[in-house]
Amino acid sequence: MHPNIWYPFTQAKTSPPPLKVKSARGIWLELEDKRKIMDCISSWWVNLHGHSHPKIAEAIYRQAQELEQVIFAGFTHQPAETLSEQLVKKLPNGLSRVFFSDNGSTAVEVALKMAYQYWVNQNQQRQKFIAFQGAYHGDTFGAMSVGSRSLFSQVFSDMLFKVDFSPFPETYIGDSNIEEKEEVVLTLLKETLERNCQEYAGIIIEPLVQGAGGMRMCRVEFLQKLQQLVKQFDILLIFDEVMTGFGRTGEWFACLKSQVTPDIICLSKGITGGFLPLSVTICTEKIYDTFYSDDPIKTLYHGHSYTANPLGCAAALASLELMVENQVVFNSMAAKHLKYLEVLHGNSKVEKLRVTGTIAAMDIVSTQESGYLNQVSLEVREKALEKGLLLRPLGNVLYIMPPYCITDEELSEVYQGIYSILQSI
Ligand SMILES: Cc1ncc(COP(=O)(O)O)c(C=O)c1O
Repeated sequence: MHPNIWYPFTQAKTSPPPLKVKSARGIWLELEDKRKIMDCISSWWVNLHGHSHPKIAEAIYRQAQELEQVIFAGFTHQPAETLSEQLVKKLPNGLSRVFFSDNGSTAVEVALKMAYQYWVNQNQQRQKFIAFQGAYHGDTFGAMSVGSRSLFSQVFSDMLFKVDFSPFPETYIGDSNIEEKEEVVLTLLKETLERNCQEYAGIIIEPLVQGAGGMRMCRVEFLQKLQQLVKQFDILLIFDEVMTGFGRTGEWFACLKSQVTPDIICLSKGITGGFLPLSVTICTEKIYDTFYSDDPIKTLYHGHSYTANPLGCAAALASLELMVENQVVFNSMAAKHLKYLEVLHGNSKVEKLRVTGTIAAMDIVSTQESGYLNQVSLEVREKALEKGLLLRPLGNVLYIMPPYCITDEELSEVYQGIYSILQSI
């Protein structure tokens, strides 16, 4: 370990030293020792078009020569304005007000504050949120509060605000009773809301795929029924699309794929194609209007030094252009994953094979408890590295989420690697 760096999610005492990356191009990372590693997880799910994409690099360079950063209160700039317009055009009708921040956790914090204050601004105190078991929304205190209680938040549990957690109706290929599972969840939610819907500011969900909680997937039909419920009881629906946004579910956004328009959506990760930290929280005019007032207390008093950083906005605009060019790739990746997963059906080492868009996942059968500390993760990581693959299972959940520039040959190589790793564990 470097003597001056404290690495994230890392127990320095027991972890192997990190690998030093010298450069990266397309799907390949090149290490200082000249080894080449294929980035099968888009570097924590941020990279969309491949590393060091010249179009995004060029856009950042051009922007840096013009305006690198400026205070975003009392001042504005073209890249932020254009980006807000382009995002609103791509999202379902109704999501129209864009609030900038700089990472997924802060996008969620802003969404929670917006939802909470939306009610306060209408003289209502709604102290609680509903979230889902298995959810992960980030590491700041608000985001941790609406995240499933886990190893990551355990130490801070007394500091987290009160949230009611609903089961999440996860599904997978060959799941025969998903309708019943969904019915149970929806009935429980309905009962909770019937008891006292006026306690709740909103409900937050990672639509279609729960990321860090283990790539757990749910159906479009569930989201549609959830929306009906939320409308019936008049609480706010927040979609955390920090991971699922920008093509990951096979469509531009999970909300478009499910044809469900939330009241608030959080976007980050892929927004800049994986080049720079940036995020947005986008809400409806109905929410914005409750903040629009002569009364200063109704203002959303939130912001960050690098809010709407022009370099990030320029990268995001270039990435959006690449998304349009590559739409067919993210639209069609699910079919490729499904083809490769066929080989694993009936394999006793894995279960719950599942695919949503560009994301494929499976649970490795293990005698140890499922969860982040399951040792199979380390074993797979090491074996993958020997094969030149960057895989980072979430406990015993092995998943692939490659950049969209992956070729068919490279994807085949990834799966060949996975088949042989599974045979050896
Ligand atoms: C769905 C979701 N929300 C929020 C976050 C937090 O994002 P960040 O790590 O940029 O703070 C993550 C990160 O993995 C995520 O997957």
